[in-house]
Amino acid sequence: MAADLAATAVAHANIALVKYWGKRDAELVLPWTGSLSMTLDVFSTTTTVDLSSPADEDLVTLDDVAVTGEPRRRVVAFLDLVRERAGRTGKAVVRSRNTVPTGAGLASSSSGFAALALAASTAYGLDLDATALSRLARRGSGSASRSVFGGFALWHAGHDDASSHAEPLPSTGFAPAMVIAMVDTGHKTVSSREAMRRTVETSPLYRPWVDSAAADLEEMRAAVSRGDLEAVGEIAERNALGMHATMLAARPAVRYLSPATVAVLDAVLELRRAGVAAYATMDAGPNVKILCAPADAERVAEAVAPHGTTVVAGIGPAARLVADR
Ligand code: DP6
Repeated sequence: MAADLAATAVAHANIALVKYWGKRDAELVLPWTGSLSMTLDVFSTTTTVDLSSPADEDLVTLDDVAVTGEPRRRVVAFLDLVRERAGRTGKAVVRSRNTVPTGAGLASSSSGFAALALAASTAYGLDLDATALSRLARRGSGSASRSVFGGFALWHAGHDDASSHAEPLPSTGFAPAMVIAMVDTGHKTVSSREAMRRTVETSPLYRPWVDSAAADLEEMRAAVSRGDLEAVGEIAERNALGMHATMLAARPAVRYLSPATVAVLDAVLELRRAGVAAYATMDAGPNVKILCAPADAERVAEAVAPHGTTVVAGIGPAARLVADR
């Protein structure tokens, strides 16, 4: 193994249409439910893992700023996992760049850990196929298991480390737009990790949501494969609102939805009344992602523009290695 190895990988954020919300095994990041997502062609993370200048400890930067505290601990724990598998001990310099606002419920951990999984496993000499890469990325952040793949990806909940991974859905040409309405890109006050733990442990609505998620997943898979935007949108919207209901019922409650979120949801309803097929989904933050036909994206973006900045996204690619920087 070359001693001066470095690898750079790019991965794109994904947005779940059927959500992952709740772990049954926090150590292995095994979820209670399967989930299904669309990888975006915006919001990417580019990460270099460089082993060429051995240091006493891992050095991690994000957009040229040193990463410290809990975010650094998660990266180092992930590198330890890769080193253990590779039988290697050398520390790494990890340089990441995000084109997605970090920690604002815009799926930065999905692109972040997918890029890190690919760059770190390559730099440390592991040769992983896509399934193994998805399993590895999952250990960093559950949603990252899906960003290994482009297009639509289904993360099978599985029952152990081997069976819990994502797979790409066959491409059918179905390519909706997703209008991201960024009503607030500030850092969230409760991390998604803490919010889902609290929800699983204390919310009386959690179990019913898990039960309904199984049906949502099967219906969503079928709706994506037949390219049925209305069905995809309806299932995505009800699944996301249900997820937020579980958090609102947690003790203490977790509420990510802000007045601006609700204003965007109203605008989406208004669009539907006007005959535009537009459907909303929200993650662990106040921002809203609106699924629609590409031909309607500009109209949707205009309708929600009074409430925040908009970005129009389409279907994005799988994680990939790029030439070292
Ligand atoms: C609401 O993947 O960030 O975006 O596994 O604890 O790192 P950890 O959680 P994370 O949670 C994502 C939750 C979600 C829904 C989803 O992407 O499926």
